[in-house]
Amino acid sequence: MRFQHSAGAFVYKLVGKRVLFLLLIRPNGGYDLPKGHIEEGESDYGAARREIREETGLRPDFLPHFSMVTEYSFKERGHTAHKTVRFFIAKADPKQKVRISHEHASYKWLGYQEAASSLEYRDLLRILSAVSDYISRWERMNTLNTEYARLPKKAGAWSLSRRHVAGEGLLNAKVMLLGQAPGRNEDMMRRPFIGRSGKLLDNILGKSGIRREEAYITSVVQFFPEGNRMPTREEIKACKPFLLEQVEIIKPKFIVLLGNLASGSMLDISEVKTNHGRIIERNGATYMITFHPAAALRSTTTLKLMEKDFEKLGRLL
Ligand code: URA
Repeated sequence: MRFQHSAGAFVYKLVGKRVLFLLLIRPNGGYDLPKGHIEEGESDYGAARREIREETGLRPDFLPHFSMVTEYSFKERGHTAHKTVRFFIAKADPKQKVRISHEHASYKWLGYQEAASSLEYRDLLRILSAVSDYISRWERMNTLNTEYARLPKKAGAWSLSRRHVAGEGLLNAKVMLLGQAPGRNEDMMRRPFIGRSGKLLDNILGKSGIRREEAYITSVVQFFPEGNRMPTREEIKACKPFLLEQVEIIKPKFIVLLGNLASGSMLDISEVKTNHGRIIERNGATYMITFHPAAALRSTTTLKLMEKDFEKLGRLL
């Protein structure tokens, strides 16, 4: 058996609110997606980027974290070959012109239904459906975060940092992790949980079999409170509607509340010490209460308890 690995992407553009997918047309009339062999030393992602550039002339932006694999077998010169293709999602600038390579006869931008009826393999329909769902979450989240980032300008008085630290991770994650507020490192890098607490959190996640890239990580307040002070009641109130919509977009199976502030603002339970490990259903969402990793950095007893809570979560997943 021969094994082949390819990579490609569902390239889309927005025309108004309409999502159009780029399909390439082979000389025999069949429809194709931009994809091709992964060359030696190349990553899946690198191969997909190169293939898109070579086959379409486009340089679209890839949506982070998402990828899906299809696999199939076929006959090649009397031998059975097994092929896997990893698909990413990439968003093209609608102003950029497609320049087709000699491999294809032409191309079309098609809406979901037309794209679905043009793709030849059933498994590609499964991926197209997931891709389409992911794009709508992505577009909705971007619009929401653009508005959230403007909050410091719109609010009368503002004492938090003016830099929005958006959540990070899969927009269809099963697990959403909710901290308190970004720290100084997060504020500078504009990424959540990348300091010491974040490293510890990655470690605890790893031990429970959950990969950071598969989760969605954010905080109740997504602006740095200078000096790492507690966000005020008013600040939490101003940020909460955005958080609730983020939860609505991701629809995680579990929301993990890291520390008193997260637990207090989502469930009105601000005694994590006596409530950690509890699973609570509220308003259609399922929460797990645990410690903030900063507390686990200060105490090995807390760290052990937190690891146990995550072990439980790993089993439930
Ligand atoms: N602590 C938090 O609560 N959130 C971050 O993003 C980083 C540290």
